[in-house]
Formats: sequence, C-alpha cells, structure tokens
Amino acid sequence: MKKIYVFAAALLAAASVAAQEPREVQMTLHNASSGGDVIPREIYGQFAEHLGRCIYGGIWVGEDSEIPNERGYRVDVLEALRALKVPVLRWPGGCFADEYHWMDGIGPREKRPKMINTHWGGTVEDNSFGTHEFLNFCELLGCEPYVNGNVGSGSVEELSKWIEYMTSDADSPMANLRRENGRDKPWKVKYIGVGNESWGCGGNMYPEYYSDLYRRYATYCREYPGNRLYKIACGANGADYNWTEVLMKRAGGMMNGLSLHYYTVYDWGRKGSATQFGDEDWYAAVGRCAQIGNIIKGHCDIMDRYDPARRIGLIVDEWGTWWDEEPGTVRGHLYQQNTLRDAMVAAVTLNIFHKYVYRVKMANIAQMVNVLQSMILTREDEMVLTPTYYVFQMYVPHQGAEALPLHFETESVRDRYNEKVDLLSATASRAEDGTITLSMANVDLEKPCKVTVALDDDRRYAVTGRLLTAVNINDHNTFENPDCVKPVDFDGFDAAKGSITVTVPAKSIVSLTLK
Ligand code: AHR
Repeated sequence: MKKIYVFAAALLAAASVAAQEPREVQMTLHNASSGGDVIPREIYGQFAEHLGRCIYGGIWVGEDSEIPNERGYRVDVLEALRALKVPVLRWPGGCFADEYHWMDGIGPREKRPKMINTHWGGTVEDNSFGTHEFLNFCELLGCEPYVNGNVGSGSVEELSKWIEYMTSDADSPMANLRRENGRDKPWKVKYIGVGNESWGCGGNMYPEYYSDLYRRYATYCREYPGNRLYKIACGANGADYNWTEVLMKRAGGMMNGLSLHYYTVYDWGRKGSATQFGDEDWYAAVGRCAQIGNIIKGHCDIMDRYDPARRIGLIVDEWGTWWDEEPGTVRGHLYQQNTLRDAMVAAVTLNIFHKYVYRVKMANIAQMVNVLQSMILTREDEMVLTPTYYVFQMYVPHQGAEALPLHFETESVRDRYNEKVDLLSATASRAEDGTITLSMANVDLEKPCKVTVALDDDRRYAVTGRLLTAVNINDHNTFENPDCVKPVDFDGFDAAKGSITVTVPAKSIVSLTLK
C-alpha cells in the first residue's frame, strides 16, 4: 500500500514544485453487488436549538413580521430547507433542553412566561416558539421531529406529560390541554431524547447515575395508540468509551438509540477564526473531523459486544465545526461563517457516516441556521446558503440509498497534530431506481486527483457531475456576495464500458450521477 507520511508543510513545499501533477487513484466500485446497508435518511438530520438566532430570526419571525413568512416561519428558509429533504430535526437543545420547561411554551404567546437562556448569552427567551410551533414546522418541512427532553432540571412527570400532550388522542388531561391550545389531532413524534450531555451541561452526572435516571425516565415515556417511540439515551462526549460501556451494560435493554457528540475543533481554548486560516489549519481541520471515524468505530465495537444484533442505533446528534464567533456578534450566540473548509469537513464526515450505517442510524449537524456549522445564515430579511448547505444538497441522492462497497487506496499527510489525513475521501450509493451516486472529496490543496473507477458490472453509464470548490480555501458566501461558493456542473470525466476516469480538482468535492 502506497502511503506518504509527511508533515503538511513539507507536503506543500513539494507540491508547489509540481503544482498540477495529478495524484492517481485506482478505485473499484462494486455496483454489481446488492443487499448492502441502506444509508438511513436520518443521517442527513439537522439540529435547531434555542441559541442565538437559530430559532428566532433564523426560522421563526412570527406572523406579524415584515419578513415574508408562512404562519410565522420564514418562507426563504423554509424553501431552502425543503430542497435538502431534511429527514429529521432535533429540538429544543442542546444544553437548552435541560433547562427547558415545555409548559412555558404553550398557550397564548402573550401569556407565556419568559426565562433566561443561561447557557447562551443570558438572552431572555420569551417562549414564543414552543411545542406547537416546532411540531407544525416539522410538518411544513415534511420531517420527523426529534424532541429532546429535560432530565437535568426537569422531572419524570414533566417529560411523561409532554409525550402525552404531543401524541395522545385520548380524552385525557394533556391531550385536552393540547386541544384547548388549538390542535385537535396528536402529532406523530417518534424520536425522544432523554437528556442532553448529561455528563456536562445536562447535569454533570456520572454514567452509573445517569443510566439509572435514564431507566426511570424511559419507563414513563409512554407509547400512545398510533405512536411508536424511539428512545435515545444520552451518549458519550467524543472518545469517552467508558460512558458507552456503562450505558450499554446498565440500560441498553431499554433504549433504541445512544447518542454521540463530536465537534471538529482544534482546541476548546483556541478555536480559531472561521474565515482567517491557512493551509495548515485546513489539513488540521480535516484531520480533526476524520477522527470521528475512529471514535464511531470505538463506540460501535463496544455496542457490538452488548448488542450483537445491532438493534440499538448510534445517534450522532451533534456534529460539525466549532470556530470563534464572528467578530461583532453577540457573545454566546455561536454565530460563525462557513467556508470551503466547512464544506470539506461536511463531505468527509458524511462519507465516514456512510461507512458505519450498520450502526449509525441518525446524525444531526449543529446547527440548522445561524449557529455553528449551519446550512443557512440570515440577516434581517436576507438569506445566504453556506458551502455546507451545498454539500448537503449534492448528497441528497445518498439519502435512503444502498451503500455500495468502494475500494481504493489514498495517499495521506500528517497534520500539525501528527494525525493522518487521507487526501481522498469517497462514498457511493445506489438509489431504488438504480441511479448510482459517487461522491469524492479531494482534500489536497495543490494537486488534482485522477481517479480511475472500475465498475464491476462492466456497464457503460451516462454520467453527469456537480463540483463544489472555490478559488481560496477561506472563500465563503456573504450577504454582499452570496454566490461566491456554489456548485457548478462538472464534466471532468470520461465514461467507458466498465470504467470512468475522473479528475477531481484540488480542494474540491465532486458528485457523479451514473444512470
Ligand atoms: O450545539 C451547541 C452546544 O454544543 C449544545 O447546546 C450542546 O449540547 C453542545 O455542547
């Protein structure tokens, strides 16, 4: 296996000599086979927390706003999200979930009590976006709701009643309260999270204590006729394998899913600018993001020991990049810009998720609008789609498709943390109608990557392509220049019987459609 291990600086020096010489990669796409794992649509899930301008201003402006809205939801954002076919949306947090008391967010809006959002800038939350507003938004978007319950400062009774309120059709106190508030029929709510980051902002618990609490809370998460629950226990922070071990051992039998949080961050004390960074930072970001593969594998191996039938899903319900907040924005609101580097992190991460779909059943990027690695940025009535948005858009065909085995060897470099960074990341899937999507991310900043793809069904396909790249690694879309980083049609390939040769430009993401 040909591998090159050098530090990024050395690589860049060498690369500048032979700038345009492509790397060559031989790839085999096993498209004749079938019966592989399906890529759950839920891997393309989103997360929207009461944090900064994610909900307020980003999604919800209220019916009286001058910003064009449908029943209070921004029309531009709604339309942009519909194009991503968002399968599931997690709400209301995050850390906020463990301070949220759902009864404060129902009934006439003007009567709803206010609270202080202590985690996120001390902003006063007026609770005008609550259960009805969230679940109706999911209906408008056509996605499954994922409601995260409060374990840290809530009660078993509170969570139990919330589920009754949302999903019961009986002549019962909570269902009747819902009716009084204008919703006759219950919603369907499948995904229920029992606490968030219970090892941290959600209560600073030990796994033994949380497991017992989980068992208790989960017992009273009742299933009302017509509504099946998928109960998700709070899982580990990154590589905390002990958390998974304890949870699986003590509560595995009572959960459907176990979560995992992993952010791409250099150092929690020095996150770095979202837009001002250099080549070394680029490789280090991809290196950090790619570590999620090893971490997922570590948790999967533990889960396999306790759950060999793979009944329990690993739910990566928070992931993405975390940079410094944009200068001049409100502290604690986590508003960050989004460059080609974020797009690369998204593509590499999604490719990794596809490898583990035997266990990873959902993932929720943090977050949907105006917070961390968001799809969308808004300013008053303006909206910008981020490079990350476009990766999600290019990857829509992978949703619900069958993952196809892909074999190739790639060169790699060592980043400044001595992490191995593969220079090519790729994934392939086949949709029900037989269409194959092959997505490739060339991490290399200098060299194109010439990939010769052998197709084992020996067919000649009609191929089309899309390309996402930019002139500079820190290019991004702004309100003044919203189309700086955007996918374009791509024809840098030759399709023959049984093979395709494609040259993936440096620092780019290419998706080929084979029909
Ligand atoms: O996504 C921002 C925060 O990151 C979430 O509230 C919390 O769960 C995590 O620490």
